[in-house]
Amino acid sequence: MRFTDEFLNELRSKNDIESVISQYVNLKRAGRLSKGLCPFHNEKSPSFTVYPDNQSFYCFGCGAGGEVITFIRRIENLDYIEAVKVLAERAGMNLPEDGYDDTLAKHRQRILAANREAARFFHSYMMSEQGRTGLEYFLGRGLTMQTIKHFGLGYAPDSWDALLKHMRSKGFTNQELFDANLVRESTKYEKKRYYDNFRNRAMVPIIDLRGNVIAFGGRVLDDSKPKYINTSDTLVYKKSNGVFALNFAKNGNPSKLIVCEGYMDVIAMHQAGFTNSVACLGTALTQEQARLVSRYADEIILSYDSDEAGQKATKRAIDIFGTTGVKIRVLKLTGGKDPDEIIRKYGKEKFQGLIDGAANDIEYGILRERDKYYLDSIDGRTKFLTAVADILANSNPIVQDAYASKLAAEMQISKDAILQQIKTAYRHKAKAAEKEKFSTIVRDTFSAKDEINPDKPKHLRAAKAEETLIATIMLNPDFYPKIKEKITPDIFVTEFNCRVYEAVAKRLDEGRSIELSVFSSEFSPMEMGRIAQLTTMGNKISCTVAECDDCIKILKQEKSKITAVNPADLDGDEFRNLFRNLNNGSSTKE
Ligand code: CTP
Ligand code: MN
Repeated sequence: MRFTDEFLNELRSKNDIESVISQYVNLKRAGRLSKGLCPFHNEKSPSFTVYPDNQSFYCFGCGAGGEVITFIRRIENLDYIEAVKVLAERAGMNLPEDGYDDTLAKHRQRILAANREAARFFHSYMMSEQGRTGLEYFLGRGLTMQTIKHFGLGYAPDSWDALLKHMRSKGFTNQELFDANLVRESTKYEKKRYYDNFRNRAMVPIIDLRGNVIAFGGRVLDDSKPKYINTSDTLVYKKSNGVFALNFAKNGNPSKLIVCEGYMDVIAMHQAGFTNSVACLGTALTQEQARLVSRYADEIILSYDSDEAGQKATKRAIDIFGTTGVKIRVLKLTGGKDPDEIIRKYGKEKFQGLIDGAANDIEYGILRERDKYYLDSIDGRTKFLTAVADILANSNPIVQDAYASKLAAEMQISKDAILQQIKTAYRHKAKAAEKEKFSTIVRDTFSAKDEINPDKPKHLRAAKAEETLIATIMLNPDFYPKIKEKITPDIFVTEFNCRVYEAVAKRLDEGRSIELSVFSSEFSPMEMGRIAQLTTMGNKISCTVAECDDCIKILKQEKSKITAVNPADLDGDEFRNLFRNLNNGSSTKE
């Protein structure tokens, strides 16, 4: 799957990286670079850097990097061809007629088409006479016909193959349906058989930001278990990224988003006019979901169920959203177990009141602690205030002062003592954080796994020399003719760097250019991050031919070391000697 250099160059020049990335990230210009908060990991101060000069990006926090195609691949979760298509369309360019393989892209399109057709089937079945049970379920939960249509709700027949048959008649293959997770495979028989995944369930389609049906949640109509069957991960859906109703919620350009636990809550909320609510599907909120949600709002209001599980989930969500830098508030649900029940019982005005009175994350934390202790006793008050000091430890001094004043009066403890305890808590936390940072560094240095270049931790010195060498050539392609004779691929120690070098060398040997964009078809987005990192090394290396010579020398030394200590190649005496040497210097108890 190769596009010509001419095509890729035109694509690149018509999709300036800064303007493309600006659609997703709030970039600020700083000299020759632009910086912003990384969209690929959670951070509060910007380490995501865009280099307009060579049309690349690199995040010093998480190592994401590459050029514009790689950026689109990662942010939109697309494969290479699809990302090229998106950019071509954006630039008003036509894709070349042939010369690329889009089997995977086509398969994804088929899965999306199958999902859309299935959603249509579930909905029209529910609207027919036979589907009455499903419709009555939703009406019974207080939904209007308008809401049912808006969300495209449906009903999966109580049958093993109703959907299967319908979809086959529409031309979908068993494999496509299986890959969409619409049917399952039975291995009980000699010949593979397929049967519907969703049977006798109220169906909620999950729609992505581009309007594609990417998955379903299917709820039982009674109290039997499991309550929900959900689409598992497919080529078009990753559960850990899924956010329900964000497609609707984002349309109002809300400054606040309300995050609930369940599908049914969100549907009820939208019906009541709270169209800025979404659900993160299941209780275990992920970093990806938090990042996605926080991209569309400045403030999030957590509105989880009032039961124990919901409160645990709230605490977790505060921590996770805390790393994204959005403002967090927490609803205290009273009078019902979840938003759906409260709206149904008391109406939307009551719910609006809860939103207006929602505590910020500090107040919420204090409220939670308050419930744990018996505050009439000195012991209870001491424990409570100690816990509060922990919560306030990292807040700004004004906030600390305000709460200290308020609690001092209420608890009849001096404000000074409270502030003192907050300082102590801060010191403890800072120390713990320092320790954690140190042990991370130690871990990274000594036992690190490097997913992209697995050989690197074992051969750090060699890998560094390889990287310097490749970086120097990438930054000064005119050095290449002077040093290429001295380098053969077999002087490389790590496989990944060897592959990068060969790709660079091949292009240069053919007299072609080596912009990052020409590598993104053969390296994965993660690998592109590492290659982009090499191009940011300009200020760390001297970029001279002499340095290249040094690197080559180092590589030769390291290579010979590896060959020398391969135990398989040693004879008996040598092996025992090696063993003795290894034991010297290490202190044993004997
Ligand atoms: N969930 C799930 N599988 C389950 C239970 C829950 O996937 N067995 C997910 C669903 O996304 C669900 C969410 O967790 O929407 C919250 O669970 P819950 O509050 O139990 O579901 P509701 O959608 O609120 O359903 P209902 O009000 O009908 O009980
Ligand atoms: Mn519920």
